[in-house]
Amino acid sequence: MPRLGVNIDHIATLRQARGGYEPDPVMAASLVQLAGADGIVVHLREDRRHIQDRDLMILRETVHLPLNLEMAAEETIAKVALTVKPDLVTLVPERRQELTTEGGLGVAEHRDRIQAMVQLLHDGGIPVSLFIDPDLNQVKASHKVHADAIELHTGKYANTRRASDQNKELEDLIQAAKLAAKLGLRVSAGHGLNYRNIRPLTSIAEIEEYNIGHSIISHAVFVGLDRAVREMQDLIRYQPAQG
Ligand code: PXP
Repeated sequence: MPRLGVNIDHIATLRQARGGYEPDPVMAASLVQLAGADGIVVHLREDRRHIQDRDLMILRETVHLPLNLEMAAEETIAKVALTVKPDLVTLVPERRQELTTEGGLGVAEHRDRIQAMVQLLHDGGIPVSLFIDPDLNQVKASHKVHADAIELHTGKYANTRRASDQNKELEDLIQAAKLAAKLGLRVSAGHGLNYRNIRPLTSIAEIEEYNIGHSIISHAVFVGLDRAVREMQDLIRYQPAQG
């Protein structure tokens, strides 16, 4: 059954808007856990615009779901990761020059730097996923730098409006997921996924986990976090009747 990782950055964004202590992402993580999610995702940005180091430390100690830390391939952030020891680090681009044209990490273009970062994190006992576009060259490069997993960037898929464009993006995701699985990489997907566009993706058997933030937190504003998580979990776990 595919897993749901909930990204709680936007709870912290709301807190930072006033610079106070509420809403607390740590409390959000506990509610997400109670609602039955399979993991917590946070992005510690170099500019600390939402999640703070304090959040990460407390989350690590209090929430007993797998913790997926998204971060740039930067030594200063790696130091925090090596202290906190999340269950997974997902390397993501934070600056334009780290991107490929569509927005995922340019693993093929920045191979040496990314491989060194993967090694550093592995030496600290932390598995590493790479957030890449559904591009076969990036999948092969991820394998070459010894990543454990990839997260397929679904932003382009999510932004398409016409069915024909969406089918093309879906096909790219299918091919990338298949190649990654064949190379022994675990596969997850995320960015821009919501209650309307998730369903077609769930037919891709290779995708083991979905990491979703904005749509769940937005829905939670109106229906509460518990219901927002459960509704997404239901969509992800839905299996069409056979035959
Ligand atoms: N996965 C990764 C690697 C991301 O960087 C993000 C955005 O922080 C997400 C998933 C979640 O994206 P969204 O908030 O659009 O659901």
